[in-house]
Amino acid sequence: MTQKEPIILAIESSCDDTSAAVLKNESILSNLIAGQDVHRLYGGVVPELASRAHLQNILPVVDAAIEKAGIQLIDIDAIAFTKGPGLLGSLIVGTSFAKSLSMALDVPLIDVNHMYGHVLAHFIDDEEEETKVSDGVLTDGPIKKEKPKFPFICLTVSGGHTQIILVKDHLEMEIIGTTIDDAAGEAFDKAAKMLGFEYPGGPLIDKHSVNGAPLKFTFTRPKVGGYDFSFSGLKTGILYFLQKQVKENPSFIEENLDDLCASIQFTIVDILIRQLKRVTKDLGIQEVAIAGGVSANSGLRKALTETGGSCNWNIYIPRFEYCTDNAAMIAITAKFMFEQELFADQTVTAMARVPFAR
Ligand code: KG4
Ligand code: ZN
Repeated sequence: MTQKEPIILAIESSCDDTSAAVLKNESILSNLIAGQDVHRLYGGVVPELASRAHLQNILPVVDAAIEKAGIQLIDIDAIAFTKGPGLLGSLIVGTSFAKSLSMALDVPLIDVNHMYGHVLAHFIDDEEEETKVSDGVLTDGPIKKEKPKFPFICLTVSGGHTQIILVKDHLEMEIIGTTIDDAAGEAFDKAAKMLGFEYPGGPLIDKHSVNGAPLKFTFTRPKVGGYDFSFSGLKTGILYFLQKQVKENPSFIEENLDDLCASIQFTIVDILIRQLKRVTKDLGIQEVAIAGGVSANSGLRKALTETGGSCNWNIYIPRFEYCTDNAAMIAITAKFMFEQELFADQTVTAMARVPFAR
């Protein structure tokens, strides 16, 4: 029988962020992230450099997370880590560290699927980021964030994945739509690179979109069946369009930067929202969540809020710090696995690809 309020230390190292978090029951006591600026100059994550940076960062980040949480090593009931999917070299650093620590402390080890983490970040005990106006009255004090009710649809959009997930229970999920080529985050980053931005360019497109006209330039939408996505045609479309325009006017990008960003963002968001509308209508589900790095995008958050209003959805948007990769989401997933005593043993290994179904 497991105890009621476990304290879990979680480690996330699947890509280029080293993160450690401490969770008590469903509340986050600390969630620290060390990013890696080294990749900016290369236009993408360099796996070798990422592994090396994880090695340098992991001990200080874990130490700081424990200190910030105000706990001692002895208080930890389980160690969780990201098993995959992700960059193998990066995953190995977190996996090895977690295995050693669980052995040293003699506590259970929990291997978490990174993609479950993005979805289950919605179950962290949290408060609303913005002050709510309810019936025209400003409520004072923080409002506890609502958690999605099962079954719900989660659109997980990150640098490596674009998935529509039917979430039936905390640990029971099914991918019902996915990208057949590039991920949404990749589309943002590749378009950003064409515009001259450093990696990751997604947040910079978002920033410039604020002052741009979303309908100034139009790009063709992909034609894919079911609930799947495709972004590679859009990428090529943007590339050819820019090449043509720059040939006629070498300053085209600089002169139209905000409008280009707004139009590209509008197109990507529109592709995502159209499929969400389709799936919710077909399945008759009104609970709709977004997750993953791209869920930090202001255009997507706004579009989801507006569509949610017109379609009568209950929408769930994660707090910014839980959108991009973080260990808090690994910790909350581990908490549900802890309750079912789904523990790993010391033979567990990191995996670049992990089957989604449990
Ligand atoms: O979930 P995440 O941190 O890492 C993966 O698991 O891939 O997602 C990173 C992705 C990157 O492609 C990044 O450009 C994108 O999320 N991203 C954004 C924004 N913030 C992060 N894309 C558009 N707008 C943003 N505000
Ligand atoms: Zn991620």
